[in-house]
Amino acid sequence: MISLINRYVTAFGPSGNEDEVRSLLQADLKQLGAETQIDALGNLSCLHAPGKDKNRSRVLLMAHMDEIGVMVSHIDAQGFCRFLPLGGVRAPWCVGARVRFGNGAIGIIGAEPHEGSTALKFEDLYIDLGASDQSAVTVNIGDSACFDRPLEASGQRLIAKSLDDRIGCVVLLETLRRLRSTPHAVAFVFSVQEEMGLRGAGVAAFGFDPDFGIAVDVTRTGDTPKARPMEVALGKGPAIKLRDSGMLADPAVVRSLRAAADHAKVPYQLEVLEHGTTDARAIQTARSGVPAGCISIPCRYVHTPSEMVDMRDVEGAIRLLVDLLGRKL
Ligand code: CO
Ligand code: ZN
Repeated sequence: MISLINRYVTAFGPSGNEDEVRSLLQADLKQLGAETQIDALGNLSCLHAPGKDKNRSRVLLMAHMDEIGVMVSHIDAQGFCRFLPLGGVRAPWCVGARVRFGNGAIGIIGAEPHEGSTALKFEDLYIDLGASDQSAVTVNIGDSACFDRPLEASGQRLIAKSLDDRIGCVVLLETLRRLRSTPHAVAFVFSVQEEMGLRGAGVAAFGFDPDFGIAVDVTRTGDTPKARPMEVALGKGPAIKLRDSGMLADPAVVRSLRAAADHAKVPYQLEVLEHGTTDARAIQTARSGVPAGCISIPCRYVHTPSEMVDMRDVEGAIRLLVDLLGRKL
């Protein structure tokens, strides 16, 4: 599975530029014999509905294809590019980072001399493409870039860019691959523009009209030095979300997820997240309301160029979902 994850995390996919990730998914879903659809916003979905039972539940699983990134807003005479963040990028974490554009151009993020009393802001930063002047710059205003880092494995731990949320995409793929039979009609949806404010998820959920919705995404942890106290840690199993700043998970969905984890003997954690939310919020508030929940992969350093997850949590999430979908809810 590491080589599969490697293909997904190295793909280029800042919000609004999900094409490369979508193509990878289309190819992998086709290999599994699944038919796919793409809606007007670019969400990719695949309906898995064996059998003809008309009374079955419609279950939506969702992971987002996009990643955080930067967008060029101005190019000066010397060829230095100013930029805006795409999604929850933090300026102080950008310094020295390498970014990669859709055409392959690599830039490094530099910072202007800065007084230590205030935090770095985006206006203090620029992208240096190594160009000698403006005419040598190969990117344009409005072009987007993602962070550029190779995947590293260290024991059970994986370190890579965009594990938020390519790891969720891989969990959905593996769940579909391992799912033998299901009494439900299950839509596997890969959404666009989550990092810009859950923009793809709402229309995708409206389109499928689910009875239950579950997002698979990452969540932060409380297991690093002086971390804000939080129960979630790497390696202790997938986290079943109870609350984040955008939603209260539906109690019946939480019960079903916990029962599936128990039944599949998957250790799990309960997530109460202070800041941040996921596509599950947009699913929950779609149409006239959808019971929704979220399975989170614990992740350190979310929204930095080096995010870290534990493979045991990834494996646990897949087993939980396969069990959940295999039985009546
Ligand atoms: Co994110
Ligand atoms: Zn995410």
